Amino acid sequence: MDDFTGHVVFVTGAASGIGLGIARAFYETGANVVLGDFRPETLDRARADFPDPSRVSFQQVDVRDETSVAAFLRAGEDAFGPATVMVANAGVYPNTPVLEMSPTEWDQVMETNVRGVFLSCQAAARSMVAHGTPGKLITISSGASTSGRRGASHYCASKAGVVMFTKVLAMELAEHKINVNCVSPGLVEVSDGFSAISTDYVTVLKQSIPWGRIGQPADIANAVLFLASPAAEFITGAVLAVDGGSSAGRAHLPLSSPTPERHS
Ligand SMILES: NC(=O)c1ccc[n+]([C@@H]2O[C@H](COP(=O)([O-])OP(=O)(O)OC[C@H]3O[C@@H](n4cnc5c(N)ncnc54)[C@H](O)[C@@H]3O)[C@@H](O)[C@H]2O)c1
Repeated sequence: MDDFTGHVVFVTGAASGIGLGIARAFYETGANVVLGDFRPETLDRARADFPDPSRVSFQQVDVRDETSVAAFLRAGEDAFGPATVMVANAGVYPNTPVLEMSPTEWDQVMETNVRGVFLSCQAAARSMVAHGTPGKLITISSGASTSGRRGASHYCASKAGVVMFTKVLAMELAEHKINVNCVSPGLVEVSDGFSAISTDYVTVLKQSIPWGRIGQPADIANAVLFLASPAAEFITGAVLAVDGGSSAGRAHLPLSSPTPERHS
């Protein structure tokens, strides 16, 4: 495990689920961690997971709002110094078919998942460039960026947007030696989450995970730590699927041959 002592790591959407798992992982490897979320009570509950208050800062932030994101960066940098890592994780995933979807719901998803990632990465990147920091920007997409599902037109479009945003930013920031990469989780178990997932959905989706289990926030955190580590210095503009093989293909299908023995 790498040692991130001295790093200043920002994580958005850090009050629960994957973001909290990522924040914890950086904290456990010695980093100073700035947790941002727009749900103050949930963020407050997360305090119990971080016994050394001198290395954590909890900030209310709405990633859709430029002023709020700037204040988040400023508060964290005032506490610990210039940003070295930004994990743009905050995201929402309501589920509504297009025929019934309100423009408000569409906007909420695009503004959180795409605009929020843009604003978070832009704020951190500007600081990194200004300080000459060879920093790391890590975005969180989803298997939904390449595989559609009903009710998730906005979500799938937003996560595909995150992938392309990551690739372009990686090209733009390469001259500053700032790595920009994306982690694309499959189904991950979260508690205290903002967006609801039905048990029916989980039961059916689980059948298409070759590894045979749902992901945990720690699985995603491990990939993020790797991308933030010196071992990933030459990796930029990449999308790392962390999904137990879900994106490899349609694992729930039976063998196509009616009599497999005939090949033996
Ligand atoms: N859980 C999964 O199966 C899964 C799979 C693929 C991708 N993802 C992605 O992982 C990320 C984390 O999701 P999660 O499953 O941990 O859900 P979650 O609801 O537990 O975490 C998301 C956090 O983002 C916060 N948030 C939402 N809007 C915000 C805003 N405008 N400003 C600041 N914070 C805001 C929420 O309060 C919440 O704490 C999301 O981007 C999601 O799309 C999740």
